[in-house]
Amino acid sequence: MAEVMRERGSVDLLDFGCGAGHFLDYLRQTDRKVRYRGLDLSARFVDLCRRKYPGVAFDCLDVMQDGAAVPEADYIVMNGVFTERCGIAYETMFGAMTGLLAKMFPYARKGMAFNLMSKHVDWEREDLFHVPYDQISRFVVGQLSRHHVIRADYGLYEYTVYVYKAAA
Ligand SMILES: C[S@@+](CC[C@H](N)C(=O)[O-])C[C@H]1O[C@@H](n2cnc3c(N)ncnc32)[C@H](O)[C@@H]1O
Repeated sequence: MAEVMRERGSVDLLDFGCGAGHFLDYLRQTDRKVRYRGLDLSARFVDLCRRKYPGVAFDCLDVMQDGAAVPEADYIVMNGVFTERCGIAYETMFGAMTGLLAKMFPYARKGMAFNLMSKHVDWEREDLFHVPYDQISRFVVGQLSRHHVIRADYGLYEYTVYVYKAAA
């Protein structure tokens, strides 16, 4: 996820669906200069993060609500936000995911990253969201940006999609 950031200089990053804020712990162990902000739909996670990380901004927000004050950032990461579908029909989940990605991309000044479960697995799990590369590429290129990378070289049964406003 951190590799969405193309530069080593100082950047603003929005951790969308930040959960318990583990990505911030990770970033603090690196030499990256990141102004981090977290956002989650869950008030329990946001309360936990505010206690764990005093002085760091966290928003508890449903970005799909009319008038939601969505924060902008150079980069937006969404880790684990779309990997489970927990009984939601595949097409319903695909529509909800693409709606959210299309809503958020304009708020990323430079790029956005999200991960999905792979179709190239020994078996698929009913509770997880396995999305074919072709289908996600068609959406990304058609509605977000043609500047994108699909990465599946890190040993998990998922892949990460990096989408950019401009070519590298
Ligand atoms: C599996 S957790 C991942 C947490 C964190 N990103 C991590 O990698 O440790 C998914 C998180 O996404 C949040 N989430 C799911 N849908 C969301 C939405 N529409 N808006 C904001 N947060 C959302 C959930 O509340 C949950 O905290």
